[in-house]
Amino acid sequence: MAKIIVTGAAGFIGSHLAEALLLQGEEVIGVDEFNDYYEPIFKRKNAAKLESFPNFQLIEGDIQFLDWQTLLKEVELVYHQAAQAGVRASWGKGFRTYTERNINATQVLLEAIKDAQNLKRLVFASTSSVYGDAETLPTHEEIIPLPVSPYGITKLAAERLCGLYHKNFGVPCVSLRYFTVYGPRQRPDMAFHKFFRTILQDEAIPVYGDGQQTRDFTFVSDVIAANLAAATIPAAVGEIFNIGGGSRVVLAEVLDTIADIVGKPIKRNHIEKAMGDARHTAADVSKARKILGYQPQVSLREGLTQEWHWVKSLY
Ligand SMILES: NC(=O)c1ccc[n+]([C@@H]2O[C@H](COP(=O)([O-])OP(=O)(O)OC[C@H]3O[C@@H](n4cnc5c(N)ncnc54)[C@H](O)[C@@H]3O)[C@@H](O)[C@H]2O)c1
Repeated sequence: MAKIIVTGAAGFIGSHLAEALLLQGEEVIGVDEFNDYYEPIFKRKNAAKLESFPNFQLIEGDIQFLDWQTLLKEVELVYHQAAQAGVRASWGKGFRTYTERNINATQVLLEAIKDAQNLKRLVFASTSSVYGDAETLPTHEEIIPLPVSPYGITKLAAERLCGLYHKNFGVPCVSLRYFTVYGPRQRPDMAFHKFFRTILQDEAIPVYGDGQQTRDFTFVSDVIAANLAAATIPAAVGEIFNIGGGSRVVLAEVLDTIADIVGKPIKRNHIEKAMGDARHTAADVSKARKILGYQPQVSLREGLTQEWHWVKSLY
């Protein structure tokens, strides 16, 4: 039976993806190094859930130093979700972890994949951060990427490496540029997770800047659906797709929805805009709709409600 590798399988998105594949009866190898960018206890919990499936195998280690030749032997599909995420920590001393986990790790994987006999598809998790402050909103894939954070630079480099290995060695790669993903298991450094935790503690929500920034929020199950389509549809090979939630929302208005969901007014604490944060993001998903049949299913209110229930059960 064909095997599937999910890198970053203990992380937020990787764990949902691995679980979806396991539920479909696939044999999944999860790769993760459980680094401490955020509390590894979250990752251990995600991995424990996956390990309850008999068709799951966990490989704990850094992508850069694994024996990929052996690992890839019977593998048909790789979903490369592992990365150093987060915009703010990518300035200064932290940058080295970004180059290693985003650029070097991807290069090592691509080198091994180019010689892997059975590999049919590599799906790479890219990001809307490659666009920076794009002037065209919603942004389509042909816009020239201009990241405004070191994080965006490293993810763009990794995405471009995938393109190079596709052109030169025929690696069947598809890149998905995710727009702010949320839902249960969201990373604790991400806004909604922080907001809900702060509400539980009855403290004021930290809002970067004036709150008028807009985002295209994407519920995690929609991102998973896009990955599954990207792995199977022939016309997707060599392509890049925006994966967004389908609508652009002003942050301040999201806070009103959140107040509604938690059933009480929320206190806001405006703090200075973070360097590297794009002012607006909005995905033009027409290409994904056309080729991948992508159609976001989960509304922001519904998705936020699910995340709220999860955060309450967590703390
Ligand atoms: N969450 C978002 O909103 C978002 C938006 C755009 C793109 N992305 C991309 O989606 C992917 C998943 O993001 P996430 O939010 O789930 O992050 P996450 O940090 O929860 O998951 C990433 C996982 O990868 C692992 N990892 C990192 N480097 C590794 C290495 N060298 N070897 C082995 N394991 C390693 C980490 O331990 C972590 O568990 C990333 O590629 C990220 O850049 C996420």
